[in-house]
Amino acid sequence: MTTEPIQAAPLLEARNLTKVYEDGVKALDNLNLKVLPGEIFAMLGGNGAGKTTTINTFLDFIQPTSGSALINSIDANQEPLEAKKYVSFVSENVQLYPNFTAMQNVDFFVRLGGQSNYERADYEHALIRVGLQREAFDKKLKDFSKGMRQKCGIAIAILKDAPAILLDEPTSGLDPKAGKEFTRLVGELRDEGKAILMSTHDIFRAKEIADYVGILNNGVLVAQKTYEELRGVNLEELYVEYMAGYMDETLESAVLTNDLD
Ligand SMILES: Nc1ncnc2c1ncn2[C@@H]1O[C@H](COP(=O)(O)OP(=O)(O)OP(=O)(O)O)[C@@H](O)[C@H]1O
Ligand SMILES: [Mg+2]
Repeated sequence: MTTEPIQAAPLLEARNLTKVYEDGVKALDNLNLKVLPGEIFAMLGGNGAGKTTTINTFLDFIQPTSGSALINSIDANQEPLEAKKYVSFVSENVQLYPNFTAMQNVDFFVRLGGQSNYERADYEHALIRVGLQREAFDKKLKDFSKGMRQKCGIAIAILKDAPAILLDEPTSGLDPKAGKEFTRLVGELRDEGKAILMSTHDIFRAKEIADYVGILNNGVLVAQKTYEELRGVNLEELYVEYMAGYMDETLESAVLTNDLD
């Protein structure tokens, strides 16, 4: 897409985002990140690193302890209804109504998202775009595979047409073909100008598609690399190095001097 290179405002921004859960677990520690229109930011990090906590703060599912999550410069926790107009969300396990058909689910959730001008042909167009077979359009979701449910979720996100998209491990549990198709679609949405923040454990797809890859460890963004910086780099090795470095005091200083942004 042709964006103005001069300082586009971020559509998603975490500012000193910190979350300490009630039991004292610090899930996010002064997290700062920005996602501009036409960018994909992929968050990597081990189990419990804080990826879902980050996404859930943008969705106002949880309140930060301090700092802020901004969507289109609107504080997602202070003005959640206004902020949510600008964002779509697809989770690892898309939760739709099992006894509704694909069409009925799309219709219901797209209306709920504030779009009421669509016709069946628009829904069909979106479902074809995400690769759902035509025979499945009027079948109940309870008979769908996980990949088919994910496709419905992304179709709903596409139809909501929000400028920012949050994806929490969207390809986890998908077979390689479905994962590849999903990733291609996410790339297309970025090319249309969406700002996309996604969490993933898929290092290889993250490297292939993301404009920025961030590595989270214990709620700290320990590294952030651009697409260009990752060319020719073994991201898996880099990832392991950062994780090890931050688990092992002796390696920590070396990592800091050599590589940390
Ligand atoms: N509701 C909660 N109450 C208390 N602690 C929580 C809660 N949700 C998450 N945590 C803790 O916060 C930390 C970050 O969890 P989070 O779910 O954000 O990690 P994640 O990076 O998404 O991990 P995964 O890759 O397993 O999905 C973990 O230590 C987790 O146990
Ligand atoms: Mg998670």
